[in-house]
Amino acid sequence: MPENAVEIENIVKTFGDFNAVDGISLKIKSGEIFGILGPNGAGKTTTINMILGLLSPSSGKIIVNGKDVMIYGAEIKSQIGLMTQETVVESDLTARENLEIFARLYHVPEKERQGRIKEALEEAELTNFSDKKAGTFSGGMKRRLELVKSMIQRPRILILDEPTTGLDIQNRVNMWEHIKDLNKEGVTVILTTQYLEEANEICERIAIIDHGKIKAIGTPSELKKIVGAGRILEIIVENGGDANAVASFLKTDFKLSAEVKLDKITVPVESNQEGIMAKILAGLDKKKIRISSINLHMPTLDDVFIKLTGSEMRDATGEMSGDRNEVMMRR
Ligand SMILES: Nc1ncnc2c1ncn2[C@@H]1O[C@H](COP(=O)(O)OP(=O)(O)O)[C@@H](O)[C@H]1O
Ligand SMILES: [Mg+2]
Repeated sequence: MPENAVEIENIVKTFGDFNAVDGISLKIKSGEIFGILGPNGAGKTTTINMILGLLSPSSGKIIVNGKDVMIYGAEIKSQIGLMTQETVVESDLTARENLEIFARLYHVPEKERQGRIKEALEEAELTNFSDKKAGTFSGGMKRRLELVKSMIQRPRILILDEPTTGLDIQNRVNMWEHIKDLNKEGVTVILTTQYLEEANEICERIAIIDHGKIKAIGTPSELKKIVGAGRILEIIVENGGDANAVASFLKTDFKLSAEVKLDKITVPVESNQEGIMAKILAGLDKKKIRISSINLHMPTLDDVFIKLTGSEMRDATGEMSGDRNEVMMRR
């Protein structure tokens, strides 16, 4: 196995006069779980479509398993499993039939076909639903079916484009376990996600991308160091409260420069600032600035993203990350 499963060298993809991918370079090691983390429209799908050879770069080069995608496209396609962002299982076909079609498409030898399909149904926890139409399945079941479908030809590399977007937390955690299991069997996993928590949970290394550019690459703990502070202080003002007043109070009284986003103020503080929260609370009280919550936490990938891009992650609907509560719970 080559050291790197994928090497991306300065790829650009231009649509009209707009660079959807704007000079990305990265190396994905064989055997790792690599995350491409970024908000809607960041260029994630465009990037993976180029890795798969489905889209040609406007410039730059991609090497998969030591071979140039532009030259060895067909060979490389058979080495990569893909689970697309949109659910594509055939609703009118049963779980078994869906797998059957794919096994044929990927030339799984006939004598192995039924065995692999049986195994796949077991892995997807769908054995009891093998002969039910996929259209009747829940979102989580459909995604599990897609996951095993993308593995039916036993690829060495698996690409998952937002595998858990739209799933509830239980199904998301379940999907994470399936992905980790595949990786333990030696499959290199490349996944894109809008969920900071997901990248933190399962990826060994992460590239944060925004507007077609890489903002940072590293392990979750390396990325958290970017925030450069011992702790992150977060204050949320009361409904109708003045977040900017809090920020300027922090500036004048504590020499802290805070980021303000709607009703929330975020600011890195050094770990050696004992009792800072109490002092801030007392000061706010004195100035009659009312807040609804204050907390001090270790940096999360959320904080890294805010630091790197100046804004919070947006979720699939283009709004603020719905993962807020989940992130908070884990602090
Ligand atoms: N075929 C296309 N033609 C024009 N613009 C495109 C095309 N595909 C993607 N884009 C644009 O490129 C940007 C990146 O898209 P995409 O790679 O799908 O982002 P992501 O997967 O991170 O949400 C978006 O602004 C999108 O609208
Ligand atoms: Mg996408």
